[in-house]
Amino acid sequence: MAQPLESEKPKARTVKRPRPYWVEPLVTMVILGAWILYSLWEVLFHNTGTYHNYVSPYFSPQVGNWFGWHVLDALYVAWVPFLFRFSCYYYRKEYYRGFFWDPPACYAVDAPRPRYSGETKWPLAINNLHRYFWYLALIVLIFLWKDAIQAFWFGKAGFEVRVGNLLMLVNAVLLTAYTFSCHAFRHMVGGRKDCFSCQDGKPSTSYKLWHKVSEWNVFHGTWAWASLFSVWATDLYIRLLIMHVIHDVRLF
Ligand code: FES
Repeated sequence: MAQPLESEKPKARTVKRPRPYWVEPLVTMVILGAWILYSLWEVLFHNTGTYHNYVSPYFSPQVGNWFGWHVLDALYVAWVPFLFRFSCYYYRKEYYRGFFWDPPACYAVDAPRPRYSGETKWPLAINNLHRYFWYLALIVLIFLWKDAIQAFWFGKAGFEVRVGNLLMLVNAVLLTAYTFSCHAFRHMVGGRKDCFSCQDGKPSTSYKLWHKVSEWNVFHGTWAWASLFSVWATDLYIRLLIMHVIHDVRLF
């Protein structure tokens, strides 16, 4: 007997939902919206993001310095992490629900349109390039690690631990967790194979790696939010230092 299409199946009841379905999309919309506005302010209204040996994550790597361009330095690089996040599978779910309300929640809640063209058309078709943005984001991540390590050395004062360099380090760690728990990366290390043990009967290195990435992948949404907040906090801290609103706090 032919199976009914998804759209023809009866809607499931949602009486066990712990809170109204619109709460999560609304919270997402507020937080992501605030972050996007902040990021635009940071990228479009500031020429530099460095304070002594600190570099804001929006401005790294400092491409402007390599070529002697010193106007809106962040524009040369900030598009990479932005497109990486914009095309992330987890964020797609979040902003489709939060901003477009389409679909607003799981299948049990009616979508505003019966047909869904999703990522088959532009501009959302750009999300299919996520796996390529992953490689670019990896390059940026390497620079963020370099910045974080260098931020612990203060010339003649030597090695010091301060709030600023700790933030940069935590940011690099969280971004690493976010990048390597990516669905596309999981597919790259093993998902494309039909059989992991067909060659010699033993789990291959690829299988072990895929298994490890799968464990991280379960928490991808958590890493996505944690790294977004760490980027935000690190940049804001460095921006406030540049503006002389706060002083860097030395811990030891
Ligand atoms: Fe989220 Fe790749 S799926 S970063």
